Amino acid sequence: MSVVTESDVRGALAKVIDPEIRKPITELGMVKGVRVAADGTIDVGIYLTTAACPMRTEISDRVSRAIADVPGAGAVTVELDVMNDEQRTELRKQLRGDAAEPVIPFAQPGSLTRVYAVASGKGGVGKSSVTVNLAAALAARGLSVGVLDADIYGHSVPRMLGTDQRPTQVERMIMPPISHDVKVISIAMFTQGNTPVVWRGPMLHRALQQFLADVFWGDLDILLLDLPPGTGDVAISIAQLIPNAEILVVTTPQPAAAEVAERAGAIALQTRQRIAGVVENMSWLDLPDGSRMDLYGSGGGQDVADRLTQAVGANVPLLGQIPITQELREAGDDGTPIVLSAPENPAAQALHAIADKLAVRRRGLAGMSLGIDTTRHL
Ligand SMILES: Nc1ncnc2c1ncn2[C@@H]1O[C@H](COP(=O)(O)OP(=O)(O)OP(=O)(O)O)[C@@H](O)[C@H]1O
Ligand SMILES: [Mg+2]
Repeated sequence: MSVVTESDVRGALAKVIDPEIRKPITELGMVKGVRVAADGTIDVGIYLTTAACPMRTEISDRVSRAIADVPGAGAVTVELDVMNDEQRTELRKQLRGDAAEPVIPFAQPGSLTRVYAVASGKGGVGKSSVTVNLAAALAARGLSVGVLDADIYGHSVPRMLGTDQRPTQVERMIMPPISHDVKVISIAMFTQGNTPVVWRGPMLHRALQQFLADVFWGDLDILLLDLPPGTGDVAISIAQLIPNAEILVVTTPQPAAAEVAERAGAIALQTRQRIAGVVENMSWLDLPDGSRMDLYGSGGGQDVADRLTQAVGANVPLLGQIPITQELREAGDDGTPIVLSAPENPAAQALHAIADKLAVRRRGLAGMSLGIDTTRHL
């Protein structure tokens, strides 16, 4: 006589979270059937959203593990099937509501997601490096984080986050790959190999709109947008699509870089966006003899912060200074941000300290430690 019942098995399945949608599979219509034989062996049928689901092995493993934990469970067989069109439509409606046209959730009144657009005047100052490291550091604090690679021509985020996965699509919903606990979407995921993208303004705008509206981001605490350098089409589109996005200005200490960074920040005046602060990158190089070399001069970050404070009439803080370290560059090339691979590295520590300042959450998550010193705000 079997001691395990079908309802025991269903109870176990209710604890299995879909890795992409991050909800219990029992709530997503993914359980096709459960059969418990007299000898205690268990057969479970699971619907995948698409046949090409990259998570099929992961889902199957999670199901097997959950059932194996049920006391008295015998051998488990998981059979995978694929949802039909009606089932997918049902799922889409459940996740997104019945709206005909997808809306940008972050631009809706009452959105709890903080959106940071990482911008700079000059190219190559470290926007993408700062973006992926802050994202990984914030995710490590238990926040739900997304990164949108808005650098359509010069995308580098997928490599820095170590993902070459392509997103799954459920009807018009795009499921973002997750890497280092960060949901990430990039145009690189939709092109073949290293093909360059040659689009004009309106196409760019449309692509960004799709990334914001058609991607199923779920409930994000923080969305980071990695912008291309300068004050071009993308920055303007972002300001139109998500007016409440705050600007994070990245600069090097060099006076010339600081001047253009100030210009990039100053568009916020015209678009009425808030400037969250300035990050100075490549601030110095620590030499083996213990001295510091100001490879790119000094003072640029503070200068930009001061001038933007004056320009917008609100405090724009210098959030941190990140030294040049070989490990930061290597970590980016290897696909594991330095805040995770070498948190004791001076550049990683500076990035963690900046993440602490940004980890102000609007969504409640009782009982989770955020590493924030609340006494500072009293
Ligand atoms: N603090 C640092 N120490 C060492 N190397 C760094 C540092 N910051 C960035 N780099 C390296 O500098 C290069 C440019 O950085 P990154 O791609 O992040 O800049 P970017 O501003 O996003 O560039 P683009 O304008 O082309 O998008 C990369 O090779 C990166 O690894
Ligand atoms: Mg970049």
